[in-house]
Amino acid sequence: MAMHPILKFPDPRLKQIAQPIAAISDELRTLAQEMLAIMYDEPGIGLAAPQIGKSIRLAVVDTDWSDEDKARNPIVLVNPEIILREGGITWEEGCLSVPDFTADVKRSARVRVRCLDLDGNEVIHEAEGLRAVCFQHEIDHLDGILFIDRISRLKRGIYTKKRTKQIKRETPSDETGPDFTHGATR
Ligand code: NI
Repeated sequence: MAMHPILKFPDPRLKQIAQPIAAISDELRTLAQEMLAIMYDEPGIGLAAPQIGKSIRLAVVDTDWSDEDKARNPIVLVNPEIILREGGITWEEGCLSVPDFTADVKRSARVRVRCLDLDGNEVIHEAEGLRAVCFQHEIDHLDGILFIDRISRLKRGIYTKKRTKQIKRETPSDETGPDFTHGATR
């Protein structure tokens, strides 16, 4: 299996708007399987293609499996679109691309998502609660938006400082420091 390291904030590729997928190919099916494997391995409940450096509108989600008794229920979203939103919900979110941080984020409580599956069929997913949150979080990734873009500037600033220190510890040379000019502005 190909290795796909997960990009971490403030990698500028996480801010790009991903391209629609024009055709379902075997290559795409393989990528989706690799993304599911990465997600289960991390572990996480969702992963979007831009998080592994693929700027295409593909995401995988499974909000069931983290309960030990429940079976895996992988959902692959190709070109997903939110076509209906209802209500509001606040959920404490985290992200594989935003290390060591969680924060409350306000989202729609219920969403209807239209997408294609890996056979190219149109599928409608109705979701509420955690799954609705996860769909919105992953679709945000396709639009270059991280959950920290949806919290207060103050909280984001605190995290950005903490992350800068963390990166400095990881990379001893100051010459190769991260560029925060994209990450901190939205
Ligand atoms: Ni995420």
